[in-house]
Amino acid sequence: MIKKGIILAGGFGTRMSPLTKAVNKQLLPIYDKPLIFYPLSILMLSKIKDILIIVNKGQINQYKKLIPDGKNLGINISYKEQDKPRGLPDAFILGEKFIGKKNVAMILGDNFFYGQGLSESLERCVKLKSGAKVFLYKVTNPQLFGVAKINKKKKILKIVEKPKKFISNLAVTGLYFFDKNVVKYAKSLKPSKRSELEIIDLLNIYQKKNKLTSEFIGRGGAWLDTGSIEDYYKTSTFVYAVENRQGLKIACLEEIALINKWITKNSIKKQIKFYGNCSYSNYLNKLIKSSV
Ligand code: DAU
Repeated sequence: MIKKGIILAGGFGTRMSPLTKAVNKQLLPIYDKPLIFYPLSILMLSKIKDILIIVNKGQINQYKKLIPDGKNLGINISYKEQDKPRGLPDAFILGEKFIGKKNVAMILGDNFFYGQGLSESLERCVKLKSGAKVFLYKVTNPQLFGVAKINKKKKILKIVEKPKKFISNLAVTGLYFFDKNVVKYAKSLKPSKRSELEIIDLLNIYQKKNKLTSEFIGRGGAWLDTGSIEDYYKTSTFVYAVENRQGLKIACLEEIALINKWITKNSIKKQIKFYGNCSYSNYLNKLIKSSV
């Protein structure tokens, strides 16, 4: 079982300047909560309790104001700084001590996932014993992502980063599950032309060894972008529409922790005090009254 997870939440978010001049992208709102809640909720839905959040140099305090240590969520959060964006596999080099000799999940801080059956998929993924697993999603703009070419048996034949020429419409999303060799492999990578370690190179090491498998997010699922201001707006609108239709929140961390039986209603009361008088707290209040 994978019990450890990393959220890569650095980057300069230059495409979203001036919004990102003073505040990290992952702390900006997607409708009613900061973006970081969404990838964190995905790790919590995967039943992962030990979480390392990698942030830009000098930004740990910004994040700690929001999520100090995870205690009130029944999880353990630690932080590590990345001095500059060296590429996604840098997460495993920075996280070497945290990972130890264990398998690990990684999610990009700017990735949004939602949909029926997602929790079941995640529970399958954390059972990974050896190799690596990625989540694939059909998109209309594959040139913007890592893309996987698969055969009829859904075996991954090739992965290419932002291909200029069409190879497939299956994007490799920013959620990855790796065995303990990931640290060793990440350390063996050389920076690409854009001077970054590439996640695709890391995945290709597993692919060449026949150790790369995939899980599909189907029609009922959503994987949305949060790369640009327009994407933020669209994703916020999506969350607004779903939440207000059902009266249920997406990525309410306390709700997930309560369902997982990691916390009691007492911890939720502490969280209500922490957040203050707001609609998120009103939702938590209702949760205390309604759940058994
Ligand atoms: O979103 C999925 C895509 O994410 C994948 O399909 C691609 O294969 C993968 O390379 C990545 O592409 P992006 O172009 O979206 O990566 P970006 O550089 O925007 O970084 C994604 C997130 O990770 C973003 O929140 C910033 C953070 N980051 C990125 C780098 C390179 C870091 O915290 N540190 C880094 O060194």
